[in-house]
Amino acid sequence: MDLKKRLEAKQAVAGVIGLGYVGLPLAIELARNNVKTIGFDVDLRKVSELAAGRSYIPDVPSAHVAEAVNTGLLIPTTDAASLAEADVIDICVPTPLRKTKDPDLSYVVKAVETTASVLRRGQLVILESTTYPGTTDEVVKPALEAKGLKAGEDFYLAFSPERVDPGNPTFQTRNIPKVVGGYDAASTEVAHAFYQLVVETVVPVTSTRAAEMVKLLENTFRAVNIGMVNELALMCHRMGIDVWEVIDAAKTKPFGFMPFYPGPGLGGHCIPIDPFYLSWKAKQFNFEARFIELAGQVNGSMPEYVVNRVAEALNAHRKPLNGSRVHVLGVAYKRDIDDVRESPALDIIELLMRRGALVTYSDPFVPEVDHGPHQITGIPVADGAATADCAVIITDHKAFDYPSIVETFPLIVDTRNALKGIRSDKIFAL
Ligand SMILES: NC(=O)c1ccc[n+]([C@@H]2O[C@H](COP(=O)([O-])OP(=O)(O)OC[C@H]3O[C@@H](n4cnc5c(N)ncnc54)[C@H](O)[C@@H]3O)[C@@H](O)[C@H]2O)c1
Repeated sequence: MDLKKRLEAKQAVAGVIGLGYVGLPLAIELARNNVKTIGFDVDLRKVSELAAGRSYIPDVPSAHVAEAVNTGLLIPTTDAASLAEADVIDICVPTPLRKTKDPDLSYVVKAVETTASVLRRGQLVILESTTYPGTTDEVVKPALEAKGLKAGEDFYLAFSPERVDPGNPTFQTRNIPKVVGGYDAASTEVAHAFYQLVVETVVPVTSTRAAEMVKLLENTFRAVNIGMVNELALMCHRMGIDVWEVIDAAKTKPFGFMPFYPGPGLGGHCIPIDPFYLSWKAKQFNFEARFIELAGQVNGSMPEYVVNRVAEALNAHRKPLNGSRVHVLGVAYKRDIDDVRESPALDIIELLMRRGALVTYSDPFVPEVDHGPHQITGIPVADGAATADCAVIITDHKAFDYPSIVETFPLIVDTRNALKGIRSDKIFAL
C-alpha cells in the first residue's frame, strides 16, 4: 500500500525529531489520534521525563503524555535507529542565529544526518524548523540523497512551517491551519494527507521555498509592525501623548488597522530571529532587506530605552541608578509562559547591572535565570517591594497583583501598560 493510503488508513508510523515546544505537541496530537509515533530527542532528560509520563511543556498536559506513553502510541527515545520504523519523519529542531546574526543550521544538519541514516524508499521527510527559503532544497535534499535515494523518485520531501503560539489557549495544533509545500506535487499531496490526521485545515502551496517564505512573511510582519509601534511609542513619549490610548482608539477602526503594542523589546525563538534568516538569504541575491534591518535596530534598542526610563524614574526621587535596587517583574519573553529565550528582560537585567544597579526579580513561571555570568534566583514580589527603590514591569503575567504592586513599590516603570487605569505619580510608562 502506498504511503498516502497507509496514512489515510492510520496505518503509517510517524517519527518526530526534536521534542521541544514544536515537536512535543505534534507528537502528542499524533498519538492521541491513534498514530504510532516515535519521538526522538538527543536530550536524555526530556526523553526520561516523557517515558515517566511527565510533560515539560506547559501547553501539553502530563495526563496526555502519560496516556500516549502508556498506550504505546508514543515511544520517546534517544535511539536514532528506532526511527527506521517511521514512514514519516518530521524534523522540529532549533534554528538559532549565530552571534554574527547568520543562520545556525547545525541542528538541522545533524537531524538530517540522523534521518539519512534510516532513510528508505517510500518515506516522507518533512522539515518544520523555521529557516530561509531554499533550505529544504539546498541543504536537506542533498544530504538525504547522499546515500543514493532520490527525492521525488524514491522518497517524498516537504517543508511545513510551524505556527505554535505557546500559552495560547484558543489556538493549538488541531485548529491552527498548516501550510505545506512539497519538493514535488506528490510530496505535497502525501504531506497534506499526513497533517490531515491531526490538523483541521491544511493549506498546500506549490513549493518548499514558498512554504519556507510563508513563515518568514508572518514573523517579519510582526517584527516590522512591532518596530513601527515601538518607534511611535518613543515619539509619543517626547510629545507627551499616551501611546496606549492612541492604539486603543485606533483599533476601533473596523477595517484596515491591526493593533500592535510597544514593549521592552522582542523575545522568544521566532520574532527576534527569523527575519534575519530572510535578510541573510536576501543578501545572496544582492538584495538589502531594509524593513527587517530597521525594525531590528528599533526593537533592539528598546532594552536600553527601558533602562534609561528606570534611571529617569529614580532621578525623580533624587537617586542614581548606580547603587539603587531595581526589582524586575517578569522575565519570560511574554505573558503567562515560562520561556526566557531571547527575553528582553535578560538584556535589561544585564544593562541595569552594568550601570551599577542591584537587581532582583519575580516571575511566577521562572524560578531561576541562568544568563551568562549571572545566575539569579527569583524572589517573592513582597520581598522585592520591601527593599527595592524601583520596580520595572517587563512581563505582564496575569498572576501579578498590580494594585498591590503600585501600593508597595516606591516607583514603577511599566513597559506593558499593565497598570492601565491606575493613576499614581509613582508610575512611569514606556
Ligand atoms: N517555540 C515556538 O513558539 C516556535 C513557533 C514556531 C516555530 N518554531 C520553530 O520550530 C523549531 C523548533 O523550535 P522549538 O521551540 O520547538 O525548540 P526547542 O528548543 O523547544 O526544541 C528543540 C528540541 O530539539 C532537540 N534536538 C536538537 N538537536 C537535535 C537532534 N540533532 N536530534 C534530535 N533532537 C534534537 C532538542 O533537544 C530540543 O528538545 C525552530 O526552528 C523554531 O524557530 C518555534
